[in-house]
Amino acid sequence: MYEIKYHTEDLADKSFLITGGAGFIGSNIVEYLIKYGAGKVRVLDNLSNGYFENIKDFMDLPNFEFVLGDVRDYETCKKSLVGIDYVSHQAALGSVPRSIADPITSNEVNVSGFLNILNAVKEAGTIKRMVYAASSSTYGDSPALPKVEGNEGNPLSPYAVTKLVNELYAEVYSKVYGFHTIGLRYFNVFGPKQNPNNPYAAVIPIFCKHFIEGTQPTINGDGLTSRDFTFVENAVQANIKAMLLPSIDKHEVMNMACGDQVTLNEMIEMLKVISGNQINAEYGPERKGDVRHSKASIDKISSILNYEPKFRFHKGLEIVFDWYRNKMIL
Ligand SMILES: NC(=O)c1ccc[n+]([C@@H]2O[C@H](COP(=O)([O-])OP(=O)(O)OC[C@H]3O[C@@H](n4cnc5c(N)ncnc54)[C@H](O)[C@@H]3O)[C@@H](O)[C@H]2O)c1
Repeated sequence: MYEIKYHTEDLADKSFLITGGAGFIGSNIVEYLIKYGAGKVRVLDNLSNGYFENIKDFMDLPNFEFVLGDVRDYETCKKSLVGIDYVSHQAALGSVPRSIADPITSNEVNVSGFLNILNAVKEAGTIKRMVYAASSSTYGDSPALPKVEGNEGNPLSPYAVTKLVNELYAEVYSKVYGFHTIGLRYFNVFGPKQNPNNPYAAVIPIFCKHFIEGTQPTINGDGLTSRDFTFVENAVQANIKAMLLPSIDKHEVMNMACGDQVTLNEMIEMLKVISGNQINAEYGPERKGDVRHSKASIDKISSILNYEPKFRFHKGLEIVFDWYRNKMIL
């Protein structure tokens, strides 16, 4: 991975803070930055849902720093920004079911934590760009496909509310303080370093694990639920390009996806071929708070960031399946 270079600038004189950098997407961003010689890469993470394993290979590098801390603490956020040029804010509690089980903690981390970082970055006055992880869940109950920025519905879960509030704050900071950030609305990101053993694990890690272990996966619903599953290298590309984009004159929020639509049943068929294991899924009840179909328009991100998804779903699924197969964590 990361054979393709998504930037033209020299990174050696640039410093980056990746919040949530021990998590799945954050640690992939770190991997890219380290690979291309970034001057400094600092991770702020409380390891509540991330894994030291994801960053342990970087720990001894002179250009890598790990801050074990919580975005709910404003002083920690402020200190983490000292000497930093670019921020990618990934720290949050993901998962719709988790937010339904514990909306208070999701709100504290995803809303108050976000506001802490946003305000600390604005106050620092020296940060060249803040990019943050927004979410396709913001489209909520809107049935329109593809999902186009500006045509959102109402949120369907506490998690979706928190991600919508992030966008609202970012928009208001842009209008009130003239402080402009970029939100990337991720559509079901998957790839190496996403843990299948987490109680709130996403569908692809869980299904891969079943196909490797030869056990039967359960589909919530009839399997016709569809998603614009997006391989993590595409998310890294978007973050790198958004952080380094020379200038913006207002808050921008944009879909980050492939622009494809794959059903869970289709995914199971692909996994049968990739794994060589002819396992059929069993079907369970639909999950609360889930949207039925999702597919993004990627026109906006393509035109603003010159983003192009280099890894389509099938290729990504092959890569991640191999990664899980070779991993001892299973
Ligand atoms: N993975 C997806 O498909 C997806 C889709 C839409 C949006 N997102 C968003 O992208 C971001 C990254 O998601 P991910 O899949 O890598 O999740 P992840 O859970 O693997 O990463 C999030 C990281 O944030 C850290 N964190 C949580 N609470 C914290 C706190 N209070 N202080 C400091 N660190 C804290 C966790 O320990 C973890 O390492 C999140 O904001 C998530 O909401 C992800």
